[in-house]
Amino acid sequence: MKQNLKYEGKGKALYSTDDEAELIQVFKDDATAFDGKKHDTITGKGILNCAISTFFFKALEDIGIKTHFIRREADTDMRIRALSMMPVEVVVRNVAAGSICKRLGLEEGLPLKRPLTELFYKDDALGDPMINTEHCELFGWATAEQVRDMRKLALSVNAVMSNILEAAGIRLIDFKLEFGLLNGEIILGDEISPDGCRLWDIKTNRKLDKDVFRRDLGGLSEVYHEVATRLGIKIQF
Ligand code: TMP
Ligand code: ASP
Repeated sequence: MKQNLKYEGKGKALYSTDDEAELIQVFKDDATAFDGKKHDTITGKGILNCAISTFFFKALEDIGIKTHFIRREADTDMRIRALSMMPVEVVVRNVAAGSICKRLGLEEGLPLKRPLTELFYKDDALGDPMINTEHCELFGWATAEQVRDMRKLALSVNAVMSNILEAAGIRLIDFKLEFGLLNGEIILGDEISPDGCRLWDIKTNRKLDKDVFRRDLGGLSEVYHEVATRLGIKIQF
């Protein structure tokens, strides 16, 4: 049972439960972009993201990658283990898109020779600046060993997700993960949904992710629904 609201972010809210080691993560219908400067409510997005995140967390748990996922408790509600979150976002890129194109002057769609990991400091007011391992160590956000573990886990997640999505006719361009600590161990937290990934149709390169909202390319819930359907996830509204 959900108890008190502990934290509310742009896309999700966290509630306490009767067990202090567990929380309920509620996926909201709010869509934001550009560090919250663009905002809208997209009916059905919370249900879709909860279902898609559940699907990927289960797939990762199945192959032994530890996540905070316990179970989906309701349409938009996921029971999770409470982690001590690190203020670091780990981005994995297979194809150049988004901020790396602006930063390095790359053409969108350029395939990278191997997956690239990048670190960002999670701070909206600062616009989530890019950081490296030394920043993490110096400012106490994560140790060098923890950064190594996060990067390694992120690359394993990339391999699993890329395979699953490819079978559904979708190319995983890039995605963002967040990790936390549980008894000193690094565990995957947050969510894995089209809000935090770039997903392109393999044949046409049509965008099937939050770029549809960022760039006003059409209906967001329709494309998230298409992703879910292609992955064989049944959605009941
Ligand atoms: P970027 O190209 O803007 O750096 O984003 C890379 C990937 O990470 C993209 O799939 C979107 C995701 N992402 C988030 O989900 N939240 C964020 O705050 C940022 C910066 C990126
Ligand atoms: N998640 C961030 C925001 O809401 C960045 C983005 O996805 O564009 O602003």
